[in-house]
Amino acid sequence: MIKSSALILILVISTVSSLDAAAYKGQKVYVESCKVCHGGGQAMAVSKDIRTWEKIMNKKGERLADIHLSSKKAEASWSYFNDHKFTKDAKHLEDFLVDYAKDSGNVPACN
Ligand code: HEC
Repeated sequence: MIKSSALILILVISTVSSLDAAAYKGQKVYVESCKVCHGGGQAMAVSKDIRTWEKIMNKKGERLADIHLSSKKAEASWSYFNDHKFTKDAKHLEDFLVDYAKDSGNVPACN
C-alpha cells in the first residue's frame, strides 16, 4: 500500500517537472536563437494564441523556418533555420511558446 502510493507520488512529481523542463528548454532556445532579433520571449509568446503557435511550429517548425528563409531582413538567421539544430530545437520552442501563448492562462492579464 505505502509502496504504491509512493510510486504514484514519484510519477506525479516527475510528470510535472518534465513539463516544466520542456518549456524551460524552449525558453533557453529562444534566448539563444531568437532574442537578438525579437527581444523578450514571453512578449513573443503572448503575441499569438495556442492554435497559431501550433500551426507555425507544426512539422518541426516548418512555417517558422519559411517565414525567415523567405525574408531578406532575417538573413542573419538563415544558417540557424537551415540547420539540423533548429529542427531539433523546434519541439522545445513550441512547448515554450504554447505555454505562454495569449490564451494559455499562464500570463498575468495586467496590460
Ligand atoms: C536575424 C534575426 C532573426 C532571428 C534570429 C529570428 N527572427 Fe523571427 N523574424 C525576423 C524578421 C526580420 C521577421 C519578419 C519577416 C518578414 O515578415 O519579412 C521575423 C518574423 C518572425 C515571426 C512572424 C511574425 C508575425 O507576427 O507573424 C515569428 C513568429 C518569429 N519571427 C519568431 C522567431 C523565433 C521563435 C525565432 C527563434 C527560433 C526567430 N524568430 C529568430 C528576424 C529574426
